Amino acid sequence: MISQNTIQQILGRLDITDVIGGFVKLKKRGTNYLGLCPFHNEKTPSFTVSPTKEIYKCFGCGRSGNTISFLMEHEKYSYVESLKWLANKYGIEIEETFATDEEMQQMLAADGLYIINSFAQQFFTKMLYETEEGKDIGLSYLKERGFREEIISRFQLGYSPEQKDAFSKEALQKQFNREVLLKTGIVVLRNEQLVDNYRGRIIFPVHNHSGKVLGFGARILKSNDKAPKYINTPENEIYVKSKILYGAYFARQAIDKADECLLVEGYTDVISLHQAGIENVVASGGTSLTQDQLRLIKKYSANLTIVYDGDAAGVKAALRGMDMALEEGLNVKLVLIPGNEDPDSYVNKIGATAFREFIQSKKKDFILFQLEVALNDAGKDSNKKAEVVNQIAETISKINKAEDFTKQQDYIKQCSEILKIDESGLHALVNKFIHNRVSTLEKKIHSENMRSEQENVFDENSRKAAVTNYEDSTFSLLFKDELQEREIARILLEHGLKDRAGQQLMAEYIFSEMPEVTIFDNPDIQKLISTYKEILNDNRNKVTKNFFIYHPDISLSSLAVSLLNFPYEESEHWRREFSQASGYQEKLFELKYEDFIKTVTEERDNKLISFLKTEEDKTHIEIDSALNYLKLRKIRRMLIENQADLEKPHSTEEYEVLHQTHYHLKKMEMELTRKLGTVILH
Ligand code: UTP
Ligand code: MN
Repeated sequence: MISQNTIQQILGRLDITDVIGGFVKLKKRGTNYLGLCPFHNEKTPSFTVSPTKEIYKCFGCGRSGNTISFLMEHEKYSYVESLKWLANKYGIEIEETFATDEEMQQMLAADGLYIINSFAQQFFTKMLYETEEGKDIGLSYLKERGFREEIISRFQLGYSPEQKDAFSKEALQKQFNREVLLKTGIVVLRNEQLVDNYRGRIIFPVHNHSGKVLGFGARILKSNDKAPKYINTPENEIYVKSKILYGAYFARQAIDKADECLLVEGYTDVISLHQAGIENVVASGGTSLTQDQLRLIKKYSANLTIVYDGDAAGVKAALRGMDMALEEGLNVKLVLIPGNEDPDSYVNKIGATAFREFIQSKKKDFILFQLEVALNDAGKDSNKKAEVVNQIAETISKINKAEDFTKQQDYIKQCSEILKIDESGLHALVNKFIHNRVSTLEKKIHSENMRSEQENVFDENSRKAAVTNYEDSTFSLLFKDELQEREIARILLEHGLKDRAGQQLMAEYIFSEMPEVTIFDNPDIQKLISTYKEILNDNRNKVTKNFFIYHPDISLSSLAVSLLNFPYEESEHWRREFSQASGYQEKLFELKYEDFIKTVTEERDNKLISFLKTEEDKTHIEIDSALNYLKLRKIRRMLIENQADLEKPHSTEEYEVLHQTHYHLKKMEMELTRKLGTVILH
């Protein structure tokens, strides 16, 4: 951890216009500075920096923050990385303090790994350019493949000589720690001796997003069935495969500019595309794409284009990748490279311009792509076709964020046209998948909540984790909040007008229980709740489900529709909806209607049987538990935010207030947990 003293020095020294001015061209306007917003596209400047208040705000897109949050957002640095960047800029020496020995060990280990990697990278590069072997074997291989020197040097490629201990010797001479050396994977133990692990291989350093070397991929030169083509750095404190995107460091600015990220598979693909002037490209590397990698991509751009080989394995990997990217909320497109080529060989074959045009003209929307592949596969087989419909409905259902609703509607329309089926039939099927997923998630979160209650979430370790993973936790909390919020909104629509103990309406009860200041993360839900409240006060007979379902504001009506999934509806209506949906399927694909309806009915009956209480009791419990979960979520969020605030420098008085806030929140949390426990036990 960076010491308070250092943080104070940094905060004392930094100048917001100086820092932001390094990234955005600013002009003085009165006491403020004005420039073109770096976070959205604009022609007239609305990005304002106030040196006196030490904040920025864009009046176009609404982004705002301080110097550190600017670096975090613009440069994608973490809080600590931002501080380090500033310290470096202002020549302030960083003093680190460690809460525990373990933390210190980890820091030292990570530092050691970086130091050795950087040394090794320089060593391998030197071997490539300055030894006969390196030039004759390594460099000539790279040149034969078409890599020019400029690109070889930009990516810091290198060569590891055949000699068994060329690197080991140098490293030991430098007094590097044996354990740490072994951890880097550059050397291995043979008969108690350190020997080089990448002998006779081309070295591809893997950089983190600020350009430090995390590890290496070492490619064999001769084809050899026994040895692996690449040897990669083993997982260690800094090399975490699932979170690495090869080339991110070199691609970041280009991704920003193009607002698009290309994703390829291999090191050489990235490098060749760079050489062809296509720089907004990263690679996932050997293992299959992970959610963490996609999350990284999302930090750079919301638009992802996957460029994979067109062979069967490539298509499969691409489909899987797209599915995951979609869940991550990315706009994902796909291009398949024809023949037996990969992006590297293809760009070398057809040239940079043709390759660019190829990508532009061939990139296909995921859903339509999937549909095309699947329909081709199905041919005339009607069972398979029915499967295709199900599959596509499931995929479309994954675009279930409220803001993507229009996109979802578009897909339903386009796909139903391609499939030649009725639009509303596909619509109903999509809704079924959405509902299924939401209820499984709700169950999962419910049980997670129960578990974390017992473990006391804010013990020391998770506190630390919460703070270090501040962004991550906020992310997942955000996500979870949305479910609680949806649940409240759904209950309002569903039960709002019912009587509560003959005294008030359920809706009135819900509003009386919800603090005035409750802010809903999802702006559409916020709008729905506010509208509901307004109308309720005005004319309570108006706030029916249909009022919202047919609301002229499309964001409200879409939300209402997505909230009111069938299983919550009265059984008759529900059954009719489903038989309609399946009717369409039946007509077209000869599904067995009876079987379909039977499964669906069983599903519903199971649900009903599980509620042994009267309908009214059930509603009460449902409402109270939804309210309490929402409150609990909000309180936990405040706890985390407060906690993060506590990590920052403050005066004694400020600390006092923050601590009091903490205990107050903690108390409310415990109270709610207790209440929820009771509700759950019912
Ligand atoms: P490829 O086999 O497509 O290699 O693997 P490549 O990058 O195109 O290399 P060239 O063009 O044949 O020289 C794609 C990626 O999968 C990982 C590497 O990251 C590679 O870039 N990989 C592949 C491994 O990690 N180990 C292997 O043995 C093979
Ligand atoms: Mn290749």
